[in-house]
Amino acid sequence: MSDTYDDFTMSYMDSCDRTPLLMLHAFPLDSSMWELQFQDMQDVTRLIAPDLRGHGVSNATEPPYSMTQLVDDCAGLLDNLGIHVPVIVCGLSMGGYLAFEFYRRYPERVAGLILASTRASADSEAGKKGRDEMITAVAEQGVKQIADAMLPRLLSPQTLAEDDELTEYVHDIMLHTSPKGVIGALHAMKNRPDSTPMLANIDVPTLVIHGENDQLIPVSEAKAMANTIPNAELVILPNAAHLPNLEQPEPFNDAIMDFMGITHGNDHHHI
Ligand code: MLT
Repeated sequence: MSDTYDDFTMSYMDSCDRTPLLMLHAFPLDSSMWELQFQDMQDVTRLIAPDLRGHGVSNATEPPYSMTQLVDDCAGLLDNLGIHVPVIVCGLSMGGYLAFEFYRRYPERVAGLILASTRASADSEAGKKGRDEMITAVAEQGVKQIADAMLPRLLSPQTLAEDDELTEYVHDIMLHTSPKGVIGALHAMKNRPDSTPMLANIDVPTLVIHGENDQLIPVSEAKAMANTIPNAELVILPNAAHLPNLEQPEPFNDAIMDFMGITHGNDHHHI
């Protein structure tokens, strides 16, 4: 790499010189949903996974939030980290809605997109009504009943029946999301624009990843996106529902590393 200051160009090596990955989490989760991506990929590239406003241990400011505000928070984080090179934005579900918004606002900061378990369209009228009902429910009863109701929709029946550790892991993340964060994000998702018109104009390499058994967002949405985005690859993961990064971490991570041109598998720690 090299950096130019006035009349002098300094060349240097940097162990973080791969394109960084900005990892945007789903609703109502936080950055710890990327634990299995960090375990596998932190040695091969730089991963930056914020807790969005009101989620994880980031502050919960007063709702409502907007998609614009949430991506501006992320751009501010990159600025604070001194990351001015374009990054790959990897967003899962709500994180994917944010990836579209980030690309709309900061196209020059995006080297590639990874759209996981997400859709381009806006909420339908019925979907918006459902958001309002959830907002009322959280305001009145807190987060637990949303967490309980969402859990069986996020994971496959097999995981729910056989993998208590993963099931509890996901449930616990949701239980730790603040009511303000949940309400704020519901407003942001309800009011998000339709990203379908921009699909044909996306001019960065794009990877679309989707669990074959996703009940929240059908796999047909992923196929339609991948067909419309000019330079898109589609990876459909069997035996995975809405969180393929946790249910099928190896093929999920392999798809990302292939997309980034990183050699991996048994040989990736060899010299
Ligand atoms: C998510 O997984 O981020 C959300 O369930 C997406 C949504 O509610 O639209």
